[in-house]
Amino acid sequence: PTHQSTDCGFWPYSLYYVAMSIGNPAKPYFLDVDTGSDLTWLQCDAPCVSCSKVPHPLYRPTKNKLVPCVDQLCTSLHGGLSKNHKCDSPKQQCDYEVKYADQGSSLGVLVNDSFAVRLANASVVRPSLAFGCGYDQEVGSSTEVAPTDGVLGLGSGSISLLSQFKQHGITKNVVGHCLSMRGGGFLFFGDNLVPYSRATWVPMARSAFRNYYSPGSASLYFGGRSLGVRPMEVVLDSGSSFTYFSAQPYQALVTALKGDLSKTLKEVSDPSLPLCWKGKKPFKSVLDVKKEFKSLVLNFANGKKALMEIPPENYLIVTKYGNACLGILNGSEIGLKDLNIVGDITMQDQMVIYDNERGQIGWIRAPCDRIPKFGSSLL
Ligand SMILES: *[C@@H]1O[C@H](CO)[C@@H](O)[C@H](O)[C@H]1NC(C)=O
Ligand SMILES: *[C@@H]1O[C@H](CO)[C@@H](O)[C@H](O)[C@H]1NC(C)=O
Ligand SMILES: *[C@@H]1O[C@H](CO)[C@@H](O)[C@H](O)[C@H]1NC(C)=O
Repeated sequence: PTHQSTDCGFWPYSLYYVAMSIGNPAKPYFLDVDTGSDLTWLQCDAPCVSCSKVPHPLYRPTKNKLVPCVDQLCTSLHGGLSKNHKCDSPKQQCDYEVKYADQGSSLGVLVNDSFAVRLANASVVRPSLAFGCGYDQEVGSSTEVAPTDGVLGLGSGSISLLSQFKQHGITKNVVGHCLSMRGGGFLFFGDNLVPYSRATWVPMARSAFRNYYSPGSASLYFGGRSLGVRPMEVVLDSGSSFTYFSAQPYQALVTALKGDLSKTLKEVSDPSLPLCWKGKKPFKSVLDVKKEFKSLVLNFANGKKALMEIPPENYLIVTKYGNACLGILNGSEIGLKDLNIVGDITMQDQMVIYDNERGQIGWIRAPCDRIPKFGSSLL
């Protein structure tokens, strides 16, 4: 979800979150892992004007934890939000607002409190880091209980927790995730776990869309055949549950899938997603239906033979009605224009590494339910 921008992003709604201990005494909070935005924030009792029901008691800041608006982190936060940064007096607090594409938003104030972080050698450090205390949320489409207390912003901007870890000399400016298809997975900071020689790497491209991590533009293949669409600007966003293609590649993909459909499948309407198929019997998992579909490939122009393979299990979802649905959605419908977002469904069971030190993005297939033996790191 979640981009600090007024025209793209979604209300936090990702299936992947981490527990972090924040404050003194430290209390646990669940945070949505979001490589698509910079600011980490918690629903917050400041007091709260409008908060969702969240898994833990609301975080309560104290006055001495407020980050002043003259602080450089406040300036960079506002730079990232592309708003005019007004700071009339040095004592003034740092207010901000984040907005999401589904009309959700969060109003808050920047605070500074300690995060308990366990290092690879098991010792714990407690740096004071700046994050948002969100006290006035407007929920977009979802009105249910929020699965998380807030968002863990892992973008490349200087307000990002990742950049703050680096500033405090805790880890290198490298983060990676491995999201398991069976739920769970792991997140790591620093480069100890990174399989440098085995992963596929591309230089990070400057996304026209803020601080998004982008491997650049790619051409799209289905079943080994080019779909003949214009190069697609791709960004990777762990905060988005689904993958979104812009109108032209989406149309080309839907046409190719329909033209290639196995006789055992019939298009069916399912309340979960726009394009679904049923088989002779309801499907229990993607494994029951994956052999009926071909793989997609994104071929990145920036890298040498930099392919991101997207097998059916990385673009199909089996719903509770036993249908197989396309988990790649039409980004134009939510105003994404030319942006293509690779979300969780497509990144599952791959280790994806965002290396801001070397300015590159890498990926490698891996079973994500256990930590591979590539090394050790801060988890
Ligand atoms: C955060 O708090 C620490 C410890 O109280 C202080 O040293 C640091 O300057 C503060 N940082 C900001 C951005 O306010
Ligand atoms: C763990 O590593 C940190 C940073 O490298 C170091 O400061 C600390 O002393 C180490 N702790 C132990 C128990 O070795
Ligand atoms: C995608 O969305 C756009 C904008 O709503 C629409 O014009 C287009 O027909 C959609 N494409 C498909 C294949 O549904």
